[in-house]
Amino acid sequence: MPDCLHVLMVLVVLTACSSPATPVDVCETISGDHTAPETGTRPFYHFTPPSAWMNDPAGLVWLDGEYHLFYQRDPHEVFTSDVRWGHAVSPDLLHWQDLPDALTPDAMLGMPFTGSAVVDAQNTSGLCAGNVNCLVAVFTHAFGALNSQKQSLAVSTDRGRTFQLDPHNPVLTAELSDFRDPFVRWHAPTSKWVMVVGTTGTALFYTSPDLNHWTPTSSFGLAPQGWPAVECPNLLPLTAPDGTTHWLLKLDLNPGLLQSGASRYWLGQFDGATFTPETDKDGLRFDGPDFYAAQAFANVPDGRTLWLGWMSDWSYAMFTPTVGYRGEQSVPRQLGLAQTPDGWRLTQTPVAELATLESACPLVSENVVAVSQDVTLAAALGNAYVLRVDLEPPKGGEVGVRVLRGATEATSVGYDAVRGTLFVDRGLPAGTDLPESFAARLEVPVALVDGRLPVTVYVDRTSVEVFAADGLAVLSVSVYPTELRHGLSAFALGGAGTLHDLTVHMLARAARVE
Ligand code: FRU
Repeated sequence: MPDCLHVLMVLVVLTACSSPATPVDVCETISGDHTAPETGTRPFYHFTPPSAWMNDPAGLVWLDGEYHLFYQRDPHEVFTSDVRWGHAVSPDLLHWQDLPDALTPDAMLGMPFTGSAVVDAQNTSGLCAGNVNCLVAVFTHAFGALNSQKQSLAVSTDRGRTFQLDPHNPVLTAELSDFRDPFVRWHAPTSKWVMVVGTTGTALFYTSPDLNHWTPTSSFGLAPQGWPAVECPNLLPLTAPDGTTHWLLKLDLNPGLLQSGASRYWLGQFDGATFTPETDKDGLRFDGPDFYAAQAFANVPDGRTLWLGWMSDWSYAMFTPTVGYRGEQSVPRQLGLAQTPDGWRLTQTPVAELATLESACPLVSENVVAVSQDVTLAAALGNAYVLRVDLEPPKGGEVGVRVLRGATEATSVGYDAVRGTLFVDRGLPAGTDLPESFAARLEVPVALVDGRLPVTVYVDRTSVEVFAADGLAVLSVSVYPTELRHGLSAFALGGAGTLHDLTVHMLARAARVE
């Protein structure tokens, strides 16, 4: 029974709700906030830049009650040219407060590209002067030209509000055409900092006692000839349900391949110097094209491994329709491992914090919907919600939902029983400069359990993120509505399919903190 009083208190967005005394499980109306007739306006609960351009998240770290989201930003243009580190902080990963840029271009060293940030509580760097909340950013300084990328440090002793460049910058150089995006963590067993950084076709590993002096230890890249530039590496230990530790190595490839995504991961062992893969040498996929440059937060106090990614792809990022800004970060996700017939695999699940934005009353609640063609489930649902459903496809066909459905546009999410794949089809918005490839149907193989696939879909005006099979299969896409898209329908092809336990809960707007 929904607690509607609670909804009214927490979410002013509901204007009417079933009385707690009446056994009605559907909220009757939702407010103008959710059904406002604009298209292409800002998402409700995804981070977007205050203006102009945003790409990679960088320097993600929790410190003293705040999550820090630094990000690649160009404050002047809706494309990337004059890059720096934008900055926002949040107590809960949802309500963000914009702060002044953290790192700006340096005339001698170049633009601050992507990197990471660590808490150097022991002052190993000698930059922290006894400040236990000392943040050290380790990042790439780059000019546009090749062979000009090198790694630098900047330190903050005021909770990330201001940074000073290390006078010894750059601290790491190499004769390489691509050499960027250092990801740094403390490796307790060897009492050293470990860095993994990208170059053409390869990830390079270094260690350091003090963040200043770096020693190369190994490289990872099994098919360097065929590989594009490796960007935005991450290297993290994950604990499996059986207590074993498996290191996650994530690499982004630029240019990527739209259908197979631009990011790959491997699970393996890491001894502080060398990564030894346990999974396929070519890497595994974990999302579609619009989850790039993902980075994990350092220093998360409750031990969760959390990351988020930039919801675009370099092949079209600068051609997307804009309304004064470009770029959106995904919902933050918790990482885990699940056992499959092929061994351990990465899982991604939206962070629990998102539930605090969710309406208690479902907007839609259906135990069973039999579907053999397109059926409208709701005409004016709004465009910021979470939909949960178990899809049961016909034997030789497909079943799914069309979210953000307008008169001519929709984003289809379904299961194709012939191909054994979860798929997302977002179409190509009319009258834009987006390439035809944008409209490709994206798919990922995933097995049904007892003939069904449990799916959770986060919809937020300009994005659709689909999590299936407990986070084993994930597809995230940005969408660019050119019409009002507040409808929801179900569809089946090639026979009769069934939607089980369908619910839709509205998500409240996570206002920016002033
Ligand atoms: C990845 C990337 C990084 C680089 C940054 C520049 O999207 O190309 O390799 O540091 O963007 O903004």
